[in-house]
Amino acid sequence: MRLLVTGGAGFIGSEFVRMTLGEHPEDAVVVLDKLTYAGNLRNLESVRADARFRFVHGDIGDAGAVGGLARECDVIVNFAAESHVDRSLEAPGQFILTDVYGTYALLEAARAAGHERFLQVSTDEVYGEVAVGRSQEVDPLRPRSPYSASKAGGEMLVQAYRASYGFPAIVTRGSNTYGWYQYPEKIIPLFITNAIDDEPLPIYGDGSAVRDYIFVSDHCRGIDMALRQGTPGEDYNVGARGEVSGVNVADAVLRLLGKAADLKQFVRDRPGHDRRYALDSSKLRALGWQPEVGFDEGLERAVRWYVDNQDWWRPLKSGDFWDFYRRNYKPLQSGAR
Ligand code: NAD
Ligand code: DAU
Repeated sequence: MRLLVTGGAGFIGSEFVRMTLGEHPEDAVVVLDKLTYAGNLRNLESVRADARFRFVHGDIGDAGAVGGLARECDVIVNFAAESHVDRSLEAPGQFILTDVYGTYALLEAARAAGHERFLQVSTDEVYGEVAVGRSQEVDPLRPRSPYSASKAGGEMLVQAYRASYGFPAIVTRGSNTYGWYQYPEKIIPLFITNAIDDEPLPIYGDGSAVRDYIFVSDHCRGIDMALRQGTPGEDYNVGARGEVSGVNVADAVLRLLGKAADLKQFVRDRPGHDRRYALDSSKLRALGWQPEVGFDEGLERAVRWYVDNQDWWRPLKSGDFWDFYRRNYKPLQSGAR
């Protein structure tokens, strides 16, 4: 199989590329990536010399570029997205351009090239918050942030292409993913890298919001399973039953690094903060997938990686990173945003 992996220089996409080239010797991979602040060629260093790998710098919204690449490949796996909820609250426009319009451009390119399979990487956030129970694939989509609305918009186009053109698309909805090579704006790498530097860990609100965490290799094996064994036209949840609150993430990171609890700093809550996500992944499990890394083990692996790879993340925590940080985090009592 010749795969076009968009967003392959990002956190999850790069793990998927390393995994695909490592586990499927007959496959070749072209990565198309715009290299936004979250894209990083260092994530692909281990595969750059592989003759089955090629990198193309470009935008998934560029119809000319994606049309040509789609003709060279058999299948598109679309990871490319603006992915951070807090950035979407500040400036939604680029999320709509990439996560909605970009998805449209890829669907058109794949349709024109006659692809027999397409995989859209989506998120549990499209279901909106779930107070009790676990989201199933048949549940309605009720996104509540500009990020999740953009991801749901991309999914709506996928559904329309299925219904209108019989387009053979599969959607995966993954839960909150952590591990190595994750840009340090998301809770786990942010808390680990701040704690290493004895900086405060900013916890939104009272820290009780829950996310369903999954280790990055488990998420990628789930996507791979859906791509190869899944049925076109179907959606698959990818979650590991790893429900943890924000304050418990902070406590676990501080414990693993041997740091004091007073590094915890409660800050103004995220507007519209979804209280809880949780996935029912029995549909994917029925294909033979199951997660291998529990939260405690995965967090230990992640902490060890960020301790051992400071040359990877230290350059990322500079200029633009701190500009956004200062705009985003406000004291608990402040009404300003
Ligand atoms: P990321 O932000 O680390 O990486 C995104 C990648 O997409 C970057 O390499 C970036 O340069 C690239 N990109 C952005 N806009 C582009 C464009 N217009 N054209 C081409 N490339 C572009 O994101 P991630 O955490 O690896 O997430 C990957 C995918 O998985 C996204 O679609 C996200 O919605 C989805 N997802 C993420 C999680 C999570 O917890 N991180 C969970 C479920 C689903
Ligand atoms: O669930 C899947 C989603 O997980 C993906 O679709 C998104 O791309 C990914 O960014 C992630 O979204 P979240 O909003 O859940 O992740 P984030 O790391 O931003 O926040 C996780 C939880 O931690 C959430 O309840 C907010 C809280 N949080 C986050 C940050 C960054 C804090 O308390 N402090 C913080 O500094």
